[in-house]
Amino acid sequence: MELHPHEARILKVLKQKQSNKQIALKAGLSLDAVNRALSWLATKGLVSLREEFTEEITLRAEGKKYALEGLPERKILVFVKKKAPLDVIQKKLGKKQTNIGLGWLKTKKQAVIEKGTLRIVNKEKRGDEMLLKLLAAKKKIDSSELTSEQNKALGLLKTRQSLIEVKEKKRMWANPTEKGLRIGAKKTTESISQLTPEMLISGDWDKARLREYDIDLYVKPRQPAKRHPLSRLIDEIRAVFLSMGFTEIKGPLIESAFWNFDALFQPQDHPARDMHDTFYLEDIKDGVIEGFDKYRDKVKQTHLNGGSTESTGWGGTWSETEARKKLLRTHTTAVTCRYLTKLKKKDLPAKVFSVGKTFRNEAIDYKHLPEFYQIEGIVVDESVNFPNLLGILREFYQKMGFSKVRFRPAYFPYTEMSVEPEIYLEEKKEWVELGGSGIFRPEVVKPLLGFDCPVLAWGLGLDRVAAQNLGLTDIRDLYISDLGWLRKQKVI
Ligand code: PHE
Repeated sequence: MELHPHEARILKVLKQKQSNKQIALKAGLSLDAVNRALSWLATKGLVSLREEFTEEITLRAEGKKYALEGLPERKILVFVKKKAPLDVIQKKLGKKQTNIGLGWLKTKKQAVIEKGTLRIVNKEKRGDEMLLKLLAAKKKIDSSELTSEQNKALGLLKTRQSLIEVKEKKRMWANPTEKGLRIGAKKTTESISQLTPEMLISGDWDKARLREYDIDLYVKPRQPAKRHPLSRLIDEIRAVFLSMGFTEIKGPLIESAFWNFDALFQPQDHPARDMHDTFYLEDIKDGVIEGFDKYRDKVKQTHLNGGSTESTGWGGTWSETEARKKLLRTHTTAVTCRYLTKLKKKDLPAKVFSVGKTFRNEAIDYKHLPEFYQIEGIVVDESVNFPNLLGILREFYQKMGFSKVRFRPAYFPYTEMSVEPEIYLEEKKEWVELGGSGIFRPEVVKPLLGFDCPVLAWGLGLDRVAAQNLGLTDIRDLYISDLGWLRKQKVI
């Protein structure tokens, strides 16, 4: 068995049970080094360790004073021969000292009070007084050195305020095992673990015995801090879009119905706006809505009759109150809408993406949560078309490690054409649906952008892909912070 030089040194001096302090002294090592070496020796089965907790007792200022002058009750015992009226005692010793002293004389059964007179019963010196003297002489006492009598006295002193100070101390006792004794008795040349320049110059390295690595040693597992796998995955997604030439945009979690629905040409009586799906915020119906004044009429007219587009619109009425409602955004497409209003013709072509939380009032099960992430993106460019959209999505998923992607026809009020991308999970042998995409309708683009231009758009669910990526079958597990599971995740 390979031993560290400190371990070898300790085994040499450890013939019977000793404390870590004694060992440190004998082996000429620091207490720290001894503690470390001892725990290694214990894992190697060469010593057994026992921890002992003791108290270190010292006197505080008041304790020192009493040790010199005597406790208040002693002062009374010195002053009073056999009997004395209480007022006389008080006059001599002061009210405070007298009260303390009388209390303790009663407790210790050394005196009784009869009709305003103190009668002494017993003047003998008690354990607490002796311990006080001992403490004054020794400065510091370890509670393990006390007799049971002295321990009782210590108990009494502890109940008195500000006399003594008690500090908990830990001491380690090491006992060599039979094997440890055997190895300790053997003659060994000390091994070294490191070559020094001096050894190389002097040639000593040639005689040195180099310690081998012991790869069988048990080492405590480390639990380093790391990012949550979900936020790591989001970073990965960011990196993929950045590598494809996109820039990131952000938007608020609390949205107005205007940016979340109306600007997307989603009719005001659309079922998705229904309370079953959308979390409306009750108390903030009004308040400032960025860009509302500038875009309200354009959006309104588009809904009513198509506005500046060739569309006939939805007809009916359009309510400003409905548009002003505040809600938790139901998709990140709202972020895209806000962005479109900021875009100028000279900025084209534009490629942006966003990743963020969205909220829908869904019943919770293994694949639904009321809050989930979406990966949103658009390409605004005169020269792009539908096959480009499919190509971009295909490339994104391929970069995320999903090679089989397919598209199903779909419907959204704000896109035409519309598709739902799906990826194939090899392990489960099934296709999973991931969200929506399409080309924004002119009813969305023209009012917000100010001119017509193809806008490829998508909003993809992240959580199911994340669960798949991390080997989870239930997306709820992404958020329960199971420490055991988190510890097993990669550190990157
Ligand atoms: N917003 C849609 C959803 O949440 C996805 C989508 C985004 C569809 C962009 C088309 C275009 O399901």
